[in-house]
Amino acid sequence: MNTPSDHNTLDSLRQRLTAVAQLDASALEAEEIAVLGRKQGELTNQLKALAKLSIEEKRSVGAALNAIKLEFEAAFAARRAELAQGAQSAEARDLDLTMPGRTSWTGSRHPVSIVIDEIVGIFRELGFAVALGPDIENEERNFFALNFPPDHPALDMHDTLYLDQGKGEVPLGEKLLLRTHTSPVQVRVMRDGPPPYRVVIPGLAYRNDPFDASHAPAFSQIEGLAVDEGVTFVDLKATLSHFARRFFGESVKVRFRPSFFPFTEPSAEMDVSCTICGGSGCAACKGTGWLEILGCGMVHEQVLKNCGVDPEKYTGFAFGMGPARIAMLRYGLPDIRLLYGGDVRFLQQFGEIGT
Ligand code: PHE
Repeated sequence: MNTPSDHNTLDSLRQRLTAVAQLDASALEAEEIAVLGRKQGELTNQLKALAKLSIEEKRSVGAALNAIKLEFEAAFAARRAELAQGAQSAEARDLDLTMPGRTSWTGSRHPVSIVIDEIVGIFRELGFAVALGPDIENEERNFFALNFPPDHPALDMHDTLYLDQGKGEVPLGEKLLLRTHTSPVQVRVMRDGPPPYRVVIPGLAYRNDPFDASHAPAFSQIEGLAVDEGVTFVDLKATLSHFARRFFGESVKVRFRPSFFPFTEPSAEMDVSCTICGGSGCAACKGTGWLEILGCGMVHEQVLKNCGVDPEKYTGFAFGMGPARIAMLRYGLPDIRLLYGGDVRFLQQFGEIGT
């Protein structure tokens, strides 16, 4: 054993003292016994050995040893308290440190987003640009510029979600609403500059519909508009048939049925042969062999005029479709609400991210 007056002894004790703050519970207990233990503790032994020293040495070395003993006692107590508190707060947070970790999952793209990107991509290949417009529109662009008469039933509160603009008369056409279709963006594009235009317009539309298996109060649409000199119904049919074959596959058949929209003349609806049964008739196509995909038509002369485009010089076609409906057909979904639920078990099946 070194003598108490030995500097090495004091130095090594000081070193051990600074290490106390890092000890874990069992090491702390062992160190306390090794230093302060009544029988063989290092410091206890040193204090006992003081007896062998001269009076002067006893004074100075004894004082140093006693001081370091107090420091050890304080350090052991402080570390013990610290460890106890750590254990307590882990308990307080309901932390079970033995529990296995949770693995994170990779996100996937929403099926409607996949369909929108694909449709927009096909039209971009054909030279269409993407145009966007705001979800809040006024009656003039949503209805009147598009040739809806002011008493058209679509303007009724039952179909259209109007914004509360307070009391007082709002000038004709200035009433604000959530756009009921993406067609007002046609108006914005045409008023923004001279033809030619070739645009596709993805965006949300809103209608005061109950949420059921085939309707949602907010839903995506993709609008298209092509206006130039000499554009005819042949261009409309060729463009939309090409789109159907690119999207559904080369063997898909298309047909156009006469229809009506205030902003196109003539108007049509385009069907594709049923993607489930191939045209022989099944539940998805209600036995008809055909699925309706989009509405379209030649831009009404009055709409061109309303938007500052000369109908003597320019003609064009427009179309509009619902990507959610198309996603339902493609993925065989029975209920549109699946697309709005955010259920990870459903969405994970469309794992596309990183592939
Ligand atoms: N806006 C129409 C709708 O929402 C769709 C459409 C767009 C029809 C463009 C013809 C031309 O039903």
